[in-house]
Amino acid sequence: MTEKPIGLARGLTNYGDSAFSLYLRRSFARSMGYSSAALARPVVGIAYSGSGFNNCHRAFPELLAAVKRGVTAAGGLPIEFPTISLGEVFLNPTSLMFRNLMSMDTEEMIRAQPMDAVVLMGGCDKTVPAQLMGAASADLPAVQLVAGPMMTGRYRGERLGACTDCRRFWAKYRAGDVSSEEIGEIENNLAVTAGTCAVMGTASTMACIAEALGMSLPGTAAIPAVHADRLRAGEATGALAAELARKPRRPSEIITEKSVENALRVLLALGGSTNAIIHLTAIAGRLGIRIPLTRLNELSETTPVLVNLKPTGPHYMEDFYAGGGVGAILRELKPVLNLDCIDVSGETLGDRIEAETNLFVDRDVVRPASAPLEDKGGLIALFGSLAPRGAILKRSAADHSLFEKEGRAVVFTSLEDLAARMDDPDLDVTPDDFLVLQNAGPTSPSGMPEAGYLPIPGKLARAGVKDMVRISDARMSGTAFGTIVLHVTPEAAQGGPLALVQNGDRIRLSVAQKCIDLLLDEAELARRRAEDERKRAARTAPKRGYAKLYHDTVLQADQGCDFDFLRG
Ligand code: FES
Repeated sequence: MTEKPIGLARGLTNYGDSAFSLYLRRSFARSMGYSSAALARPVVGIAYSGSGFNNCHRAFPELLAAVKRGVTAAGGLPIEFPTISLGEVFLNPTSLMFRNLMSMDTEEMIRAQPMDAVVLMGGCDKTVPAQLMGAASADLPAVQLVAGPMMTGRYRGERLGACTDCRRFWAKYRAGDVSSEEIGEIENNLAVTAGTCAVMGTASTMACIAEALGMSLPGTAAIPAVHADRLRAGEATGALAAELARKPRRPSEIITEKSVENALRVLLALGGSTNAIIHLTAIAGRLGIRIPLTRLNELSETTPVLVNLKPTGPHYMEDFYAGGGVGAILRELKPVLNLDCIDVSGETLGDRIEAETNLFVDRDVVRPASAPLEDKGGLIALFGSLAPRGAILKRSAADHSLFEKEGRAVVFTSLEDLAARMDDPDLDVTPDDFLVLQNAGPTSPSGMPEAGYLPIPGKLARAGVKDMVRISDARMSGTAFGTIVLHVTPEAAQGGPLALVQNGDRIRLSVAQKCIDLLLDEAELARRRAEDERKRAARTAPKRGYAKLYHDTVLQADQGCDFDFLRG
């Protein structure tokens, strides 16, 4: 039996003579100064997403050196390769639109290049799900290494962290409580180091999910980007990848129905980002694992919120790291977790928890399950005539006094309409109304941006209104808060009932019953549906390039917004 090729001998270019192909590849590799001994080692690829357009990955050059040190010390040959990077705030129309592109880039480059294992270096919001999706599809041994969160800044004695405080101060500025000069000073102090947003936003949530899934080394999710432990985590990740290159353990062995359920539990206990449900659905979907939103609700009823971080609590990611990190949550959730799941190192979750004894936990940051922040999970799915396939509400970040309510719809038909009229002094709106944004879903021209956190209309904000029920098919930043119903599915651009809502309609929200209903009779709905179909038929879709691929193949939010042809 011939041995499977390793390292540079894998996946040779086919010239019809494999010995020639290897000879040619080695001679070009030698031009980079590698010795014969180095070229004989198993290769650890490092998917590198550093970019001048990604502030969160600014510390990657030093972290990369640490990973390479670990790979080399463990007998592998580290070779980094670039993939596209997704710097959250630098992308138009929205970073989500490019998550699938990055996942394809990652998958294909893992598959096409000669490597035996891969380290995935990501961090900023969409990069970690993109890399995990790509790695799951390629199914080569892979370890996720995240950038780690930013440290907080200071403003007049107050700690600041992107990006919950960005929104908090902007709301104050809109209400006239903060001057232009002050908002300029705040801008200088919101994001003061390398690393991902300092709160439990999407990046931090996905880092914790990667660890809970078992795809990154235990204890590494929350280490700040600039902490020396982050470099040690890089070195250890490199060493593990070199081991995996010799003794493969594939993503499909780690990401299973059971580990996905563990990750969902952790997401709920974190009070984590609403985006994470889309991303986890997409990652699991690559391996044929489905996450029905009804299952999310079942888990949510039996998973307490334990983590007291912004946007729902007062603390930041650096406090979470010092206060116990993901391990502290896992130990509290032990009775409801699937303990036989293995992680990248081959250790079971049960063994990990067993080994973590006498560790310090800051109980103001990670609460015990016996005294949680809330006894039910942070996220729930709502269903009803407005959202037949579901919508998401982050109940841990919402105003509970708005949970059982009927309101009058104030409708914005697009983001442009929202921008044009939100601050109009003549806008007919009261604090008891429900703000509705249409046409901001996956196939809309805006590509499902984080626009679901609709601003409070200017005149109400100035009058002191802090929260209202807001409903859309958009997403919301993981760092935002409010009574915000998101991901309404099917979206308006695909003819979902959200498209049929008009000013003055009545909508009923019941968090207790997990429902959201448009209170219209069937005859009126049918009339409006026919009208909407006519309008949609007249719309033009993108005709070329990635925008066309995205528009034609992206799935709805309940299927993770993956491309239909990429799912497992
Ligand atoms: Fe990169 Fe927030 S901008 S994580």
